[in-house]
Amino acid sequence: MKFRTALVTAVCIGALSAIGVAVAQDADTEKGIERYRQMLREDPWSNPGLLDSDRGEALWKTPRGPKNVTLEQCDLGKGPGKVEGAFAELPRYFKDADRVMDVETRLLWCMEKLQGFNPADIVKRPHPGGGQPVKELGAIATWVANQSSGQKYAAKLDLPKEKEVLALGEDLFFRRSGPFDFSCATCHAAEGLRIRLQGLPYLADTKEARKVVGEWPAYRVSSTHVMTMQHRLYDCYWQMRMPQLQMGTDASVALVAYLTKKAEGGEIAAPGLKR
Ligand code: HEC
Repeated sequence: MKFRTALVTAVCIGALSAIGVAVAQDADTEKGIERYRQMLREDPWSNPGLLDSDRGEALWKTPRGPKNVTLEQCDLGKGPGKVEGAFAELPRYFKDADRVMDVETRLLWCMEKLQGFNPADIVKRPHPGGGQPVKELGAIATWVANQSSGQKYAAKLDLPKEKEVLALGEDLFFRRSGPFDFSCATCHAAEGLRIRLQGLPYLADTKEARKVVGEWPAYRVSSTHVMTMQHRLYDCYWQMRMPQLQMGTDASVALVAYLTKKAEGGEIAAPGLKR
């Protein structure tokens, strides 16, 4: 018995000091990463995501798809072809589709209706693997978001259908499910949480949501590509071991709407830079 108590005590002390070391190291590493981010921010042209934004602009203007037309007649909410400032008002209700849509869902719709692409082909593998560049739709979304950079999030989300979507997004954010019984709130509804080195933003809080939501799509340094908001949510659902979140579904749009509403008034700075 005595031996076991001693052993347990020794193991605990060992574990505690290991944690102590980890915390000290993490604080240093975190400072290092912050410095690195700072350096990248000081030279805005060092963000490789801007190359994808340029690629997106070229794709928007290039005749493509079975119908071989450009996206220049795509209506992002401010009239066909009006891109500047459109992202700042998304997600929104679109009468022609009778649905609320975020930027990626709307682009998917335009690619189908205008260019004749089959959306099922696009949503099969909508996001890039590590080291691969963001897919075409994501590059276009990056450019569209960039065309609202410097503006404030101003999605109204006050029509009855928009309010419904917002309520669904809030429910999904707080709903625990899946094999781990996690909700988004498990990781994103308190201050100062982190997993390993990653700080977990308190997304249900307007102050923190304003800081980070407007940076998406963002260039993610660790996977060396631009990640869109739909991709970010797909990945977080994967972390929850939930079924794959499909691009453009009601659940995905609802979550984007919820996050956008939380970030209302925050500045758009897309593409941002993430670790
Ligand atoms: C198991 C914990 C966990 C859960 C649950 C989780 N996330 Fe995340 N989330 C993370 C991590 C870790 C990161 C940061 C990843 C990184 O730094 O690369 C993150 C990042 C994010 C970001 C980007 C934040 C930023 O810094 O810009 C958003 C937005 C987000 N999550 C939304 C959600 C939503 C919505 C849900 C629910 C569908 C969710 N997350 C569920 C762990 C989680």
